Amino acid sequence: MDLGLKGRVAVVGGGSRGLGKACALSLAREGANVAICSRGVEGLEAAAKEIRSTTGAEVLAVPADLSRLADIQDLLQKTVDHFGRLDVVVCNSGGPPEGRAVDTSEETWDQAIQMALTFFIRMGREAVPHLKNRSWGRIVNILASTVYQPIDNLVTSGVTRMGAVAFAKSLADEVGRDNILVNNVAPGFLLTDRMVGLFETRASETGESADALLQARASAIPMGRFGRPEELADLVAFLASEKNGYITGTTILVDGGVVRSVL
Ligand SMILES: NC(=O)c1ccc[n+]([C@@H]2O[C@H](COP(=O)([O-])OP(=O)(O)OC[C@H]3O[C@@H](n4cnc5c(N)ncnc54)[C@H](OP(=O)(O)O)[C@@H]3O)[C@@H](O)[C@H]2O)c1
Repeated sequence: MDLGLKGRVAVVGGGSRGLGKACALSLAREGANVAICSRGVEGLEAAAKEIRSTTGAEVLAVPADLSRLADIQDLLQKTVDHFGRLDVVVCNSGGPPEGRAVDTSEETWDQAIQMALTFFIRMGREAVPHLKNRSWGRIVNILASTVYQPIDNLVTSGVTRMGAVAFAKSLADEVGRDNILVNNVAPGFLLTDRMVGLFETRASETGESADALLQARASAIPMGRFGRPEELADLVAFLASEKNGYITGTTILVDGGVVRSVL
């Protein structure tokens, strides 16, 4: 299926590794040109090189800290200045710090809200004027399965991302007539650096080995394994494409069946 992404321009946050890089690769494979960003410059340049060489796409690498409004505005503007247009925005960044409901500190909550709620509000709000210029746009937020079911020690994720779901729904209402579609994807357990890091933290707390914890987690997933980043990225590419003509304001799980809900 031709997704109709050829010649379109996408911004992908946190594109130097993990889910963001996989999304940038999927979009580039479909013919989009991409702007990627991250704080670390070395990893960003390496990812840009890899995406260029494997897909032939034009890739703009913009060092940015997405916790800062000015960096978000700069990333979007640099993309438009470089490519002359903006069509797709994949809102992705580092995840919130871990925390439990009973004892997460004020500082940790502030950080979590900033990273996993304010970030999505800013990206959506700042992108819309650029997308409206072409009367076409796709915004895809990378959230988490915690919007359906809590994960131990990640109350910070569920609470903040529920707000991002609400924001996306209102944004979808407000921009639907401009042909701008806004959706969320909710990964469960996909094997990335962050995912391995979370299990290493857990292992250091419990004294178990991270490998044993990863194995146990995998066997509790109905598909019996962790997901691969590209298994989320291909859905993101579809949601970001011309072929997605009528899906908006919704959230789609990519979790190998792990969430215990029938809806
Ligand atoms: N992997 C999963 O299964 C899973 C499940 C649920 C939710 N998620 C969420 O999906 C998102 C991506 O996860 P991941 O597993 O791909 O994480 P990851 O492997 O840690 O990658 C995060 C990417 O974001 C960049 N980044 C982090 N903080 C940033 C900032 N302030 N400004 C700009 N770039 C930043 C990182 O580069 P720098 O560090 O160089 O900036 C890196 O490129 C996270 O929000 C995570 O919580 C993932």
